[in-house]
Amino acid sequence: MQNLSRRRVLTLGAALGLATVADPAKAWAWSSADSLAATDTVTDPWSVWDDATDPLVASLLDNGQIPAVNTAFESWISNGDALPAGLPATLTAYLQQVNVLPSWADRTKLAQAAQFNKRMSMYLFLLYGLGSGIMSTVIPREARNVYYSAGGADMQSRAAKTFTYGYDLSAADAFQPTGHFVVTSNKTRLTHAAVRHLLPQSPAWHGVTNDQDFRPISNGDILITFHSLGTYVYGKLSSWGIRMSSAEQAAYLHQWQVALHLLGVRDDFIPASWAAAKQQSAYALTPLLAPTPEGIDLANVLLGLTAQIDLGVTRGFLNEFVRYVLSDKIGDWLRLPRDLIARGLIEVGWPAYVAFREGLSPIVPSGFSMFDQFVRALAMLFLNNGTSASYTPITIPTGNRP
Ligand code: HEM
Repeated sequence: MQNLSRRRVLTLGAALGLATVADPAKAWAWSSADSLAATDTVTDPWSVWDDATDPLVASLLDNGQIPAVNTAFESWISNGDALPAGLPATLTAYLQQVNVLPSWADRTKLAQAAQFNKRMSMYLFLLYGLGSGIMSTVIPREARNVYYSAGGADMQSRAAKTFTYGYDLSAADAFQPTGHFVVTSNKTRLTHAAVRHLLPQSPAWHGVTNDQDFRPISNGDILITFHSLGTYVYGKLSSWGIRMSSAEQAAYLHQWQVALHLLGVRDDFIPASWAAAKQQSAYALTPLLAPTPEGIDLANVLLGLTAQIDLGVTRGFLNEFVRYVLSDKIGDWLRLPRDLIARGLIEVGWPAYVAFREGLSPIVPSGFSMFDQFVRALAMLFLNNGTSASYTPITIPTGNRP
């Protein structure tokens, strides 16, 4: 881990709602006692990739079979769909193993999570999109991986594919036969395996990574991204005072635990409780956050794409909202221009808007309609991708950023 000042880590951790921060100078020491496997062992997740998937995808890439796989995958959408015909036999055998929920998945909790996602949908669109999405650009390895992989050259399409994942996860039937999430997860897992094979062949990526043998997207990296999504959103909802029953909190975590399993993360790394997740996040995510030229560029592109939609607010407001949900430190790293008038509106208006929406205050706040339009426009951006003809399927890349 980078040698960052403890003070900076603490400040950022607090701003992101990520609780206690371990000493970032120390090697990985998160005990798996607090994981789903509950084994009191310490394994470094940055040295664990996806042995079940990586060699298979590498050989499909080397044999030029991925374009045909992508074509066959076009008709493979719902969890209940039969595996498509015409896939290489090795891939079919692999998918028969992994295209199922883990034995510990609890369907009652998954159904509760779907209800919770529905109730929280407006906040989820906002926080996944402007919070997690932009936070991914200050996770250096992720920012660089995305920048130098094929998707880095077309962020609009990449963002749309990521929306597909979020939409499929948050859908009411996400884990049921009519839902899409298990299939989408498997396509994503295969995509990650392809990136592990392809990115080390990119001269541009070699130019920015210290270790020439470095393989991207380890279990550790995926855990970090989970914390920038689930743990971050959970922390923000809590800090905004939104009511969540303990069953809802457990269900929302469970949905992410299953999602991590489907992406190939080992059970001994998956936090068993929100307390363990927060601790792991503070330990693994917060100290790694840092700006990179690639991340600054990606954030600009992403915010530029968002600003193309009529959000009913100025670009200055959008920048300040990102600062508000992610901290000024991150806003400064990403060089988001200041707009102190917009910030004043947000500081006062957003808590009042949330309190009113949640029935915690009877007073309609003065900026209600502006915030409401903003939140709804972001939701439409998300939903349009998920429901309209522009639904963007996930395809396995065959090359890097040109
Ligand atoms: C691709 C989700 C972790 C790097 C994708 C895609 C999804 C996704 C949905 C397919 C969309 C696309 O092809 O653009 C996730 C989730 C994660 C996670 C839910 C963790 C919870 C990571 C991490 C890294 C990473 C940790 C890197 C450190 C990439 C790259 C691509 C990709 C480079 C391929 C982009 C391309 O097409 O060239 N991911 N990801 N992901 N992901 Fe992830």
